[in-house]
Amino acid sequence: NDALRIALLGCGTVGTAVARRLVDHADEFASRVERPVEITGVAVRDTSKPRPESGLDPSVFTTDAEALVRDADVVVELMGGIEPARSLLLTAMEHGASVVTANKALLGEDGPRLYETAAEHGVDLYYEASVAGAIPLLRPLQVSLAGDSVERIMGIVNGTTNFILDKMDRTGEALDDVLAEAQELGYAEADPTADVEGYDARAKAAILASLAFHTRVAALDVSCEGIMSITADDIRAARKMGCVVKLLAICERVRNGRGDQSLSVRVHPTLVPRSHPLASVHDAFNAVFIESALAGEVMFYGQGAGGDPTASAVLGDLVQAARHKVTGSRGPGESAYADLPILPLSQA
Ligand code: NAP
Ligand code: HSE
Repeated sequence: NDALRIALLGCGTVGTAVARRLVDHADEFASRVERPVEITGVAVRDTSKPRPESGLDPSVFTTDAEALVRDADVVVELMGGIEPARSLLLTAMEHGASVVTANKALLGEDGPRLYETAAEHGVDLYYEASVAGAIPLLRPLQVSLAGDSVERIMGIVNGTTNFILDKMDRTGEALDDVLAEAQELGYAEADPTADVEGYDARAKAAILASLAFHTRVAALDVSCEGIMSITADDIRAARKMGCVVKLLAICERVRNGRGDQSLSVRVHPTLVPRSHPLASVHDAFNAVFIESALAGEVMFYGQGAGGDPTASAVLGDLVQAARHKVTGSRGPGESAYADLPILPLSQA
């Protein structure tokens, strides 16, 4: 059996969507990776929980994540939290597996250690889904803008708080009533404190600032204020001023009179004029503005949370990591291009 061995850690909102797609589109993945992919096991806390939506055979579920990561080509971590996720990913890389994760909390806390371990063992570490869900954002920052100089990033990077603030604005409801709905829709973290206190956006700001400014910013270096104190009255007052309230992550290069540079990275609720494009970002959507020396203004927009949108980014990383394992190339698969089936063009 020469299938590429994929170990999945977690089968919750995102893990279920990832598994389902891998099961239902196995042939597509085999073609894009140039080898069949096999889910060798899925680590969960409770193996007795029925998980029919995943499309997986019940026999693949295990509580022995440690054994799973020692025998995989690619480990996809979707369990969240710092431990045991960090130890499992370090073990996985030490045993030669590439890693795909959506775990911004872990990257914001200990990203450099993960990077160093990946480099030491010659494996890949990808985390496109960790910031802004489905939006292709980290790769464009790392690759497409690598020759430019980013000056400022301003973004709505937490879907739960955007959902809450947007719904409060549209319906006049109180924060607590709307939070429960965001949890039911699968947008919130397992502990939604991370969303409403701004910690989730803080970790994402740290990741964005590190990549954009080619430096190391840890989540704890980012100043942070969440939305817990925002009341229905505040939202009404903002409305009277022609504004909406948005939780923004702002990362900017600051220059003093002598030309010395420093960074300001912060997360806080902000009054945004209704005419501004960020004011039109509704529900759990995210949007990120980037200003750079050469490109000027670039804006990214899309679904920032939820199972399927996040799975899209995870699976993109998985194809990339798997292809690299199989073909040794990080490119888009030009070698297979000539052999692809031709879809008839519509005459309509
Ligand atoms: P979730 O629904 O809470 O699922 C977590 C899964 O991990 C569950 O299957 C759980 O097992 C398993 N798990 C947790 N701790 C474990 C442990 N110690 N050992 C074994 N299994 C464990 O979480 P999620 O919303 O899918 O999020 C997963 C990751 O993606 C997190 O890092 C999150 O920040 C990130 N993320 C989420 C979204 C989103 O919209 N939800 C978007 C972007 C990124 P049981 O099922 O048995 O409890
Ligand atoms: N809880 C996060 C959010 C999930 O609401 O944005 C996506 O990272």
